Amino acid sequence: MEYQNLKIDDQDGFVTITLNREKALNALNTQTMLELRHFFGTDGPAHEGLKGVILTGAGEKAFVAGADIKEFMALGDNGGAEMAQRGQDVFFLIERFHVPVIAAVNGFALGGGCELAMACHLRIAGPNARFGQPEVNLGIIPGYGGTQRLIQYIGKGKAMELLLTADMIGADEAHKLGLVNKVVEAGQEVAESRKMLEKIASKGPVAISKVIESVNAYFETERNGFNFEVHAFGETTRTEDFKEGASAFVEKRKANFSGK
Ligand code: COA
Repeated sequence: MEYQNLKIDDQDGFVTITLNREKALNALNTQTMLELRHFFGTDGPAHEGLKGVILTGAGEKAFVAGADIKEFMALGDNGGAEMAQRGQDVFFLIERFHVPVIAAVNGFALGGGCELAMACHLRIAGPNARFGQPEVNLGIIPGYGGTQRLIQYIGKGKAMELLLTADMIGADEAHKLGLVNKVVEAGQEVAESRKMLEKIASKGPVAISKVIESVNAYFETERNGFNFEVHAFGETTRTEDFKEGASAFVEKRKANFSGK
């Protein structure tokens, strides 16, 4: 697929994806969602040396200012549910991706933008990041998992407040609430995300993907996270990575993981 709205920069397996519709504050239109689906469903999984992904927004103003309101105003009566289902499917691909995905939030992360950041495994924000779910201003509700994931990060009371009032919160408050992992200086969002990905990439790759899966399993009501963890733990103890990691510890040297 030829990417039109995503700018993809691959540096030795650390991939930065810039959502590139600056004039529309990087709002998520259908084409952008198709491209995200293609990356996280096809190109990303096929990329052998992939170590981590950073998602960020073009320009200095926005990460993503939501789903494209102008586009979805044209939806017919049944289009809304289909749009939400398609969007949720894409965001699940991100949440379940096998290597870490970090949202480098460099401005507005509203509506679908906040939902996209929440589908990522980690969030690093600049000082002008603003988070919110303003859908009720438009007479709708979040459709890309926002009502569910916001509770997971900040708890029911505060999530209810933000969802009902449509209030935005800044980077520091988002950090205090646990929505953001780290607040960094303006312009450093991608560089700091890369540093964090490099740290994670030095660990056992199988273990990293199993941590992601096990943490996600906690929130998936159709499976029991504790049981899932038992099996995932068992799988990691059978890997070459574990043999190598444990030997390296005993031999007081740095592990050289093969991801097998
Ligand atoms: N969908 C489509 N276009 C959007 C958009 C969205 N979610 N958010 C912003 N844009 C467009 C604006 O229409 C404007 O386009 P124009 O130049 O053709 O008029 C451009 O991006 C710049 O936005 P503007 O509103 O002029 O910037 P601002 O600095 O005054 O305000 C925001 C910034 C983010 C507060 C404001 O754009 C906003 O509230 N956006 C919608 C947020 C939202 O409700 N998201 C949830 C959608 S479900």
